[in-house]
Amino acid sequence: MEELNFEGRTVIVTGAGRGIGRAYALLLASRGAGVVVADLGASTDGMGVDGDDPAADVVAEIEAAGGRAVGVRADVSTPEGAQTIVDAAVSAFGGVDAVINNAGIVRVADWLEVPAEEYQRHLEVHYLGSLWLARAAWPHLKESGSGRIVNTISPAMLGNPMMVHYGSSKGAVYGLTRNLALEGMEHGINVNAVSPGAGTRMAEAAADSLSAEIMEYMRTALTPELVAPLGVYLAHPSSQVTGEAFNVAGGMVNRMAVVNTQGIYDTELTVETIASSFDQIMTINEAAQPQVVAVAAMPGA
Ligand SMILES: NC(=O)c1ccc[n+]([C@@H]2O[C@H](COP(=O)([O-])OP(=O)(O)OC[C@H]3O[C@@H](n4cnc5c(N)ncnc54)[C@H](O)[C@@H]3O)[C@@H](O)[C@H]2O)c1
Repeated sequence: MEELNFEGRTVIVTGAGRGIGRAYALLLASRGAGVVVADLGASTDGMGVDGDDPAADVVAEIEAAGGRAVGVRADVSTPEGAQTIVDAAVSAFGGVDAVINNAGIVRVADWLEVPAEEYQRHLEVHYLGSLWLARAAWPHLKESGSGRIVNTISPAMLGNPMMVHYGSSKGAVYGLTRNLALEGMEHGINVNAVSPGAGTRMAEAAADSLSAEIMEYMRTALTPELVAPLGVYLAHPSSQVTGEAFNVAGGMVNRMAVVNTQGIYDTELTVETIASSFDQIMTINEAAQPQVVAVAAMPGA
């Protein structure tokens, strides 16, 4: 197959100074994209800022390899930070064709002991950060004609020990993905979500909840470079999917779907009908249908 290139396209990658975001930025630049490397240089738990400027390091790496990139040290969690990132894209490259919302934070902790400000911060960085970037970039994505947004969710969204604050904030990003996909349809803007697994700094920070064997496996087999191809594909204009979510780790890629089972239909529904037909309500068979955005958009669906 012909190589998918990004010549003439501008892609914003948030959290691109480290880990998975860095891998996205390097891959995109190697395919010809003008890359906006946005990173605050945040501590892993998101409650502070490191002294270093990782975005600048990644820009230097891209330029040394002959690519085009601009760095922005900004906080995605505020509308102003998001606007600064979009403005940098427009002034460096003249527009925005795709946004990869990848910036993220984590701290493993008992949900009853997580302070209110950490719940707030997880929502601000993951949910609001993705929302502000999408909103600021939207006019440019419309103008692009083939705008793409790739959000970042997590397997923890579906339940992980000691991650109520983190996992539920990623669930909000999933809801955002579905709703923006609907809004983007008439403008050719596709919006999807990636649920990655990679042995990054973040994974090290979550190591308390993982066994030593799993951590070693993540470091060696689950590289950020084995996550990047999926997000980069979804950012490409040839990708036609929207409103979907995918798992990617260590070479495995699959679709994550919310499935509606056939269930029951009874206009005389009672509590007892539900109790006696519960198995049927739960059964996933060939009649079960994944909830796709196109169906959700149909009146009455
Ligand atoms: N590593 C995994 O296994 C894994 C699993 C599930 C989801 N994720 C998600 O993948 C994404 C990337 O994670 P990673 O593992 O590469 O982590 P990482 O810690 O290596 O990199 C995250 C980057 O985001 C930046 N960042 C944090 N808050 C920011 C803010 N407010 N504004 C701008 N930049 C900010 C950090 O400075 C950092 O460079 C995150 O959204 C994370 O939640 C990772």
